[in-house]
Amino acid sequence: LGHAVLRAKSHVGEHSFAVLLGDDVIDSRDPLLERMLEVHAATGDNVIALMEVPRDQIHLYGSAAIETTSDTDVVIVTELVEKPEPEVAPSNFAVIGRYVLRHEIFEVLEKTEPGRGGEIQLTDALQFAAQHPEVAGGVRGVVFSGRRYDTGDKLDFIRATLRIAIDREDIGPELRGWLKDFSKD
Ligand code: G1P
Repeated sequence: LGHAVLRAKSHVGEHSFAVLLGDDVIDSRDPLLERMLEVHAATGDNVIALMEVPRDQIHLYGSAAIETTSDTDVVIVTELVEKPEPEVAPSNFAVIGRYVLRHEIFEVLEKTEPGRGGEIQLTDALQFAAQHPEVAGGVRGVVFSGRRYDTGDKLDFIRATLRIAIDREDIGPELRGWLKDFSKD
């Protein structure tokens, strides 16, 4: 992911920018990116999205050590570890696939050595930023509690498709009826 983001350097220039991971679907009825942009505008920090997950799932994500702020949904991120074993994870706050980043993160990524899985990890660059806010800005987290689907997981992919489709005015009613009949078999 770090290498992929670095490919965008010449297109972004000296602006802050957002990264949206396509396999992490956030239900548009539960706004997340808007809130992250607000926090970025107010603080100038890099902003990541965090979600609490059960301990036994933290090894699938970046994990963040956090400090609370006066805003209940905003935290200061003090440490980040990519896909840790549960016993060494700083917390069960998982990084999910939305980021609002300062352009200085590109210089940090250029110096980031391959980490977990032998790949350049965005989490490692953000860990550097969290510990050296004077170089690339600090890191804040927006804690998300809305609907998120990990379409990298087969069952979650199907759930996301059905949950979103069922609430649509155009195809929802017909789908609902069809599902009822289908599940009788
Ligand atoms: C990436 C990030 C990880 C993050 C996850 C969110 O991992 O490296 O820190 O928690 O996205 O979906 P991936 O799922 O691409 O392996």
